[in-house]
Amino acid sequence: MVRVGVVGTGGWGKNHVRVFDELQCLGAVCDMDKARAEQFSKKYRVPGYTSLDEMLNKEKLDAVTICTPASTHFAIARKTLAAGFHTLVEKPMTTSAKDGQLLIDEAKKANRILTVGFIERFNPPISELKGMIAAGKMGDLILLEFHRENKRGERTEDVGIVKDASVHDIDTACWLFGEQPKSVYARVGVMYVPLEHEDFATILLGFSGQKTAFLVTNWVTPSRVRTLSAVFSKAVVDVDFVTQQTSIHEGTATTSPTRQFQEPLMLEMKEFVGAIEEKRRPLVTAEDGFRATLVAEAVLASSSSKTPIYME
Ligand SMILES: NC(=O)c1ccc[n+]([C@@H]2O[C@H](COP(=O)([O-])OP(=O)(O)OC[C@H]3O[C@@H](n4cnc5c(N)ncnc54)[C@H](O)[C@@H]3O)[C@@H](O)[C@H]2O)c1
Repeated sequence: MVRVGVVGTGGWGKNHVRVFDELQCLGAVCDMDKARAEQFSKKYRVPGYTSLDEMLNKEKLDAVTICTPASTHFAIARKTLAAGFHTLVEKPMTTSAKDGQLLIDEAKKANRILTVGFIERFNPPISELKGMIAAGKMGDLILLEFHRENKRGERTEDVGIVKDASVHDIDTACWLFGEQPKSVYARVGVMYVPLEHEDFATILLGFSGQKTAFLVTNWVTPSRVRTLSAVFSKAVVDVDFVTQQTSIHEGTATTSPTRQFQEPLMLEMKEFVGAIEEKRRPLVTAEDGFRATLVAEAVLASSSSKTPIYME
């Protein structure tokens, strides 16, 4: 049985802890906040640490997931990989593509899996959409329009919305089109002035031929919006990431496939554990994490230079 240690038990990390407990894979928890380390250690009856080094030295773990703020991902992941642990880093994998490349090198050297928390790939309507694209019955996929909008959350924002949230849709767009964008044009800004980083972004990604992705992300909209509209030459498929509902519009008819709700994080962690057990590549590779950060950097560069960035 694979044993996983979770580093960071805050707003999101506590979900990692719960899911690994349900999978009977939870080995230990670590949080620099003593109260949190103790709280989750007690709740799930596993050892709790405030020191990452101590957890890595004392516990017989196979893997670690990193749910700490983005600016800490690189240093923590470099340490866990060098110490020989398979590692899942929450998004963004690193705050710079340069650091992402260094992590890829570290994972190769250690011969360990390095993967990133691009959870939307595991969201059932998105996996289903990927299958529809491959089946080709709806014609050519031309446009992906994403909306990821909500009021700003409580946690410390050490990166702006592009690296924090748009990266999900950047990765999903690249995965669904099966390629990387050739051009990036974006406008980003700050609506809530005390913030150091941007809190809204409008992004246009140009893929080969006419394929385009349009991404709207903000921390302003009062309600939580997470939608994707996929425009094919013969149909339009609307997806709601939250309700997991899919609507397929063909001509004047609309159909909605029925399927059971499944927690994307559970599916994501099962896949991570499966990749470790089967000694295979994970669905999300470290290169995917690197490339999403590279595109996020191009988004910010495009906005500040007011010009498109050509990725070639
Ligand atoms: N995949 C998703 O859908 C999703 C959703 C939310 C957050 N996230 C990601 O999860 C990560 C954490 O986000 P959050 O909302 O839980 O943040 P948070 O601020 O709520 O929690 C971070 C936790 O990490 C702890 N911590 C910080 N530095 C540490 C260190 N060096 N060692 C040990 N513990 C440390 C803090 O004490 C805190 O408990 C971020 O990378 C975020 O982007 C992903």
